[in-house]
Amino acid sequence: MRGVTVSFPSPGGAVMALSGLDLTVEPGQVFGFLGPNGAGKTTAMHVLLGFIDATAGEARLFGHDVRESIARQRIGYLPEHPDTYRFLTGRELLDLTARLFKLRGAARRRRVEESLATVGLYEAASRRIATYSRGMMQRICLAQALINDPDLVILDEPTGGLDPMGRMDIRRIIGELRDRGKTVFFSSHELSEVELVCDTIAILCHGRIVAQGPAASLVAPGEHLEQVFMKVIAEAEVAT
Ligand SMILES: Nc1ncnc2c1ncn2[C@@H]1O[C@H](COP(=O)(O)OP(=O)(O)OP(=O)(O)O)[C@@H](O)[C@H]1O
Ligand SMILES: [Mg+2]
Repeated sequence: MRGVTVSFPSPGGAVMALSGLDLTVEPGQVFGFLGPNGAGKTTAMHVLLGFIDATAGEARLFGHDVRESIARQRIGYLPEHPDTYRFLTGRELLDLTARLFKLRGAARRRRVEESLATVGLYEAASRRIATYSRGMMQRICLAQALINDPDLVILDEPTGGLDPMGRMDIRRIIGELRDRGKTVFFSSHELSEVELVCDTIAILCHGRIVAQGPAASLVAPGEHLEQVFMKVIAEAEVAT
């Protein structure tokens, strides 16, 4: 993304959600996208996914402008508030999604079962999604995001609503994706989790990047990401 600006019209004057955002996620990286509530993380993801157009600037995915639908073919996405067809069972939802990606026969069935196992929903797979808890909804939507074996996975707060085991599962899944050469771009408020899984971190505040770099260089030995976060946000608030 280069110089991406998004301003939403609003009665009290336009809301600048992103102000000239420059961001590059290298292939094969696990990239943590941090920032306080309202910083613009979800908005940036929505631009990447082609849900909203940038007011100014340029966003590209795999070399294609994000407004071209081909740019989205190799992407998996978990939204901030996942929800889906609640009248289907978990297995039916994944089967339907796999069909949309033109997976057929035994390959499709295998992929569905693998995905259920990956997110730990094997037992609940035959139940309607309407009976799932919030964390189970999160898990089935994550499985849905991964069904096409995407090269880039965009996760908006993947650990929200998950129990400690669920959070560990997410860490494991992100690690497995990285080991298979996939790129993971995710937002999170769980700084201790981010510290454990990310190669690169960007911190956003009021629509601007206020810190960015390899996780190891942002956080000094003996320091925690939380301290770095508090410091750069406090400095950014003073500057604005
Ligand atoms: N459709 C919209 N209309 C008007 N303002 C919007 C709209 N969507 C987002 N905003 C504003 O843009 C800013 C960025 O919101 P965004 O949802 O991107 O933040 P976020 O970093 O994802 O926050 P959170 O951590 O709470 O999820 C906020 O000020 C928000 O109120
Ligand atoms: Mg958000």
